[in-house]
Amino acid sequence: MNGAEIRCLTMTAADLPEIWNIEQFLPSPWTFNQLGDELQLPMGWHFTLKSAAGMHGYIFGITVAGEAEIRKLAIQRDFRRQGLGHRLLERVWRHLITQKATSCFLEVREENTAATALYQKNLFQTVGSRLGYYKLPPGNALILRKDLSSAQPIPAQGQKTCEI
Ligand SMILES: CC(C)(COP(=O)(O)OP(=O)(O)OC[C@H]1O[C@@H](n2cnc3c(N)ncnc32)[C@H](O)[C@@H]1OP(=O)(O)O)[C@@H](O)C(=O)NCCC(=O)NCCS
Repeated sequence: MNGAEIRCLTMTAADLPEIWNIEQFLPSPWTFNQLGDELQLPMGWHFTLKSAAGMHGYIFGITVAGEAEIRKLAIQRDFRRQGLGHRLLERVWRHLITQKATSCFLEVREENTAATALYQKNLFQTVGSRLGYYKLPPGNALILRKDLSSAQPIPAQGQKTCEI
């Protein structure tokens, strides 16, 4: 399947069953009710990557007083290392720049090399850690922050993209 057939869309409640299926293969999966609660957060933003074949990835986040937080990001296992995680993040940067957010935070498992590499590529910096933050399975969290205060608008999909 080629990436052009995969569309980035605003998440709806109808997406939740497929998202829940993908969650089952992640450490610390959210329950179906948690997914529904996140989708309803008033300051939340949520995007999916879908094709005719179904759901390939999703992101949940929230912005409060100019500070954004990525709360969940996942790409379906068979579609990883194809640039989809990066594509979802670029969609988020466009949204956050429109919102005039000045920074974006997230927590990631210290040993999650795929995610930390993706965030590093997106210019996140480590600003702290939380020992024993994760329970199932146990692990430490890194706190990452991306500065958006001088970010320039990113062209929409299909146009040339730029780093921020
Ligand atoms: C982390 C995750 C979202 C990455 O999604 P992805 O679509 O595979 O990532 P991309 O293909 O967009 O990769 C972009 C860059 O991230 C880095 N990266 C991604 N996966 C990597 C891996 N397994 N090992 C090393 N670097 C990796 C690379 O720099 C990559 O760029 P490159 O392919 O040009 O080298 C995906 O692995 C995933 O869903 N993991 C399980 C859930 C999770 O850990 N979520 C994050 C919680 S904070």
